[in-house]
This record gives sequence, structure tokens and C-alpha cells, in this order.
Amino acid sequence: MKLVATVNEARAAVRDAKRQGKRVGLVATMGALHAGHISLVRAAKASCDFVAASIFVNPTQFGPKEDYTKYPRTLEADRHKLEPEGVDLVFTPAVEEMYPHGATTFVNVDEISERLDGRSRPGHFRGVATIVAKLFHVLEPDAAFFGQKDAAQVAIIRRMVRDLMFPIEIVVAPIIREADGLAFSSRNAYLSPEERRQALVLSRALREIETRYRAGERDTNKLIETARAVFATEPAVRVDYIELVDSETLGARAKAASGTLAAVAAFVGTTRLIDNVRLG
Ligand code: PAF
Repeated sequence: MKLVATVNEARAAVRDAKRQGKRVGLVATMGALHAGHISLVRAAKASCDFVAASIFVNPTQFGPKEDYTKYPRTLEADRHKLEPEGVDLVFTPAVEEMYPHGATTFVNVDEISERLDGRSRPGHFRGVATIVAKLFHVLEPDAAFFGQKDAAQVAIIRRMVRDLMFPIEIVVAPIIREADGLAFSSRNAYLSPEERRQALVLSRALREIETRYRAGERDTNKLIETARAVFATEPAVRVDYIELVDSETLGARAKAASGTLAAVAAFVGTTRLIDNVRLG
């Protein structure tokens, strides 16, 4: 496993693999790797001959009051998780490498970037789209692997890839959960034991929506109300949003249908967590 920190080294390693006719897969991460990331690496290994992982805590996707400085940085541990998975290249650039002094160019995926997390985190998806576009340019993957947990991010990246004509296949891997239902997230590390217990309300609320949907309920307001009732059992958890939306446009739906995305975000203590399920 080769570790590189500069754009030139990363490009050279990938181009070398491509010259050998290898299909290149990219798993873009901000580090603090967990089982969800490893599932993406395994999906990439299964369909690519050369797998690159990037580890970069991207400043432009954090708001001024968000956790950029305290976001967990665990490079050594991350390396030890990637090595046994057979990752070929790990790209760990410094901020100045990805945002050269005076950089003023950003990628904005209009409209859908203001939905779901984009509404609560203004500018977040502009930062995500920008860094993902840069990583695509540097690492030129044939396929890039993202987790369904960040469903809004997936919709924005898919749209960007289509609109900017990146010749890259976007592969989305299912959410990986702990045994009790909590979706893996790097931010789970912030939770106290009591908050960790309270955080289960997100997956419980989604399961309730699914149960009601399976029982025939299609009115999204009613489905949202059932989720609100579940959240009410954990008053310490502050709901940010509960929405049922089209999984491509992230636009609100009046009637739920097969494929509708039920998505929730909530603050457990000061930690903002997200989770979702596709109905049907
Ligand atoms: O999902 C993430 O970890 C980040 O948003 C990503 C895609 C690596 C961009 O910084």
C-alpha cells in the first residue's frame, strides 16, 4: 500500500495503474474509518483492479460553527485498517495541496444542494461537490464508491457527474449498522454512553415509517407524524428534519412510493447525526 500526499504523486500512481489496463476505484473519505468505509473498500476491491482511498478532512464542507477542528483525525489507525483490505494507494493531501493559495473556484450543484442537509448546513454541499470534483480530477477513477447513509450527498454527486460529464461510475453501498441499529458514523465517536443510547431513536423512527408504509400508509405527512411520535420518546434529542423525498431530486413528496427516501437528521447532545431508508 503506497501512501502519497501530493497531487503529482497520486496522479502518477493512478496513471501507472491505468497504463497496465487496470480499472481504478476510488473511496473518498475524511478518515476516522469505520465498518461503513471498509464496506466501500470491499465493494471497490470486488470490481476494480486498483483501489485508491483518500483521507482528507475537507474544510470547505464545514460551516463556521461546525466541528472542523475537532473532527477525529486518526491517520495511523486508518492506515492499519486499509492495509489488510488490499488498498493500493492512500492519498492524504494537506489543505494547501487541495486548495492552493488563492483558490476561488467552487462547484455548485444548484437547488438540490439546498435540500435536506443543505438547508441546515448552508454551503456544505458546495464544499462536498468541490472536493469530490478535485479528487475525481486528480485520481481519475473509473468508479467511485459512496455510502447510502449520506443519501443527499449521493444525489448531489450523481447530479454533478452527469452535469459535468465525468466518465465515472458512481456505486452506492448500503448503510452498515451496529447490531442495535445505529448507523456507523465517524461522529458516533463524540457520543457519551447515554447519548449513544438516545441516538437509537433515529433508526427506530425510520423503522416505524417503514412499518407504516408496509401496512399501506402513503400519506407522507402521516408517516412523518409517526416518526415525530417516536422522537418524542427521547426529548433530549432535537430533530433537525424528518422528510420523505424523491431520492434523485431530494424534492418533497406528498405521497410515498417505492424508492421514496425517508431521511432524518437530529442533534444528540451537540452531535448531529443523519440516517435514512429507501421505502419499498
Ligand atoms: O462522505 C464523506 O466522508 C465526505 O463528504 C467526502 C465525500 C469524503 C468529501 O469530503
